[in-house]
Amino acid sequence: MWTREALHELIQQRLQGYQFIVASNREPYIHRFVGSRIECMEPASGMVAALDPIMRACGGVWVAHGSGDGDRETVDQYGHVRVPPCNPQYMLRRLWLSKEEEQGYYYGLSNGCLWPLCHVSFTRPVFEEQHWETYRQVNKKFAAAILEEAGDNPTFVFLQDYHLALVPRMLKDSNANLIVAQFWHIPWPNPEIFRAFPWLKELLEGLLGNDLLGFHLRHDCQNFIETVDRSIEARTDHVGFEATRRGKTTLVRPFPISIDFNQHGATAQGEGVERETRVWRRRLDLKDDHLLGIGIDRIDYTKGIPERLRAIDRLLEQYPEYRQRLIFVQIGVPSRLGVAAYRGLDQELDALVAHINRKWGTRAWRPVVFVKHHCSEIQMMALHRLARFCFVSSLHDGMNLVAKEFVASRDDEDGVLILSQFTGAAQELGDALLVNPFAIGPGAHAMRQALTMPREERRRRMQKMRSTVAGSNVYRWAGKFLSALLKFDFAESVVSAAASAW
Ligand code: G6P
Repeated sequence: MWTREALHELIQQRLQGYQFIVASNREPYIHRFVGSRIECMEPASGMVAALDPIMRACGGVWVAHGSGDGDRETVDQYGHVRVPPCNPQYMLRRLWLSKEEEQGYYYGLSNGCLWPLCHVSFTRPVFEEQHWETYRQVNKKFAAAILEEAGDNPTFVFLQDYHLALVPRMLKDSNANLIVAQFWHIPWPNPEIFRAFPWLKELLEGLLGNDLLGFHLRHDCQNFIETVDRSIEARTDHVGFEATRRGKTTLVRPFPISIDFNQHGATAQGEGVERETRVWRRRLDLKDDHLLGIGIDRIDYTKGIPERLRAIDRLLEQYPEYRQRLIFVQIGVPSRLGVAAYRGLDQELDALVAHINRKWGTRAWRPVVFVKHHCSEIQMMALHRLARFCFVSSLHDGMNLVAKEFVASRDDEDGVLILSQFTGAAQELGDALLVNPFAIGPGAHAMRQALTMPREERRRRMQKMRSTVAGSNVYRWAGKFLSALLKFDFAESVVSAAASAW
């Protein structure tokens, strides 16, 4: 079993003398003004949830966009601040973007174009020459900050996600000795979809600067290799998963991402979560005969939130016994409101929730409680533990860590996970109730099944899912990634030995 210590040991042994630099658009800790006080919060991002434990285990520097209004007040003259603030374990290097840069690179190209392209969810991408130009400029800015941090030291740079596709080539062109790898946290669609992207050649050229490029699933790797094959001059190996361009080979491999199962489980069993459970009970006025369902997402059109709400409406229509009994809490963290499609969804959800509550609600009971703000990890764990079921209905999702977090919180081996078959997580969590999120009737049926499932079956399914997530934890993800990069296939036994010697 991979552990934090085993990963640390691997890095000590194999990357001794190397600096470790992670870079992503989203920063792991955001400082914000609340009145005249500055508070630090953790963003709602699966990428951050996965990478933060790795950085805590390995140390190093994380380069990211300083997006909080209190961020500049909390760094030194080099943009550095040590994090996590309560127990510093690594360095965060913030870089600053102007409003125009943020508009073109983050809202425009990354989230108005690459995001909908990669998630085939019927939202039209917007192609704007100016956005691409800004994306290119901001990628240069990231590359410059990384090169500055690397200096002349041997360095391993681990890039995250679709915001930084041009950075690998820029880094390699400046310093061929850097080890550069990237993980693409979202799906890679089939080549037909990417044909529409006007700057595809340059994007691929950028990504092929990587020594290793990781995706969640084999299917994403295949799509990527095929896209390269059809779009640029490169030698591709569809079996060995490699692409060679101008004499440089990039390995392409699947690594399904995960969470720190043990740490998550330990926190979920703690006093803090117990306290928050009481707070939720009071806030929701939860009675013993109430049944709680939950959904936790950023407000994003890929998450299938309207479909989920319509399925609740259908459930209440078809099964009157759940009226006055079912309470569905939807945590919706506002997200990317600079993109029109996100603003539209936000309004659609408000209207839908109001409609369902008007249709079915009574003086004493509201079927849908829409919590439209960021909740702490502890608050979410408390909800996980109170829920009869958690409904993840993404229309398309690279992995979806909410599903794994729900499972990791349930050491009581109870609760049912309803999971979209179009998430990466569905490939590992076959003991969830798998649904097609577009289909409203089957969604309602799955909730009914979750609510009537015998305790023994709930236990059996949850036990299996917990053992899967425990084994495939985020240290395994990072360890496998590093092992592939170093072209060593570390046997699990070697890792266990390293772990016990630690
Ligand atoms: C996805 C992406 C992450 C991103 C997260 C939150 O999980 O893969 O890179 O951080 O969404 O989105 P945001 O735009 O708020 O960073």
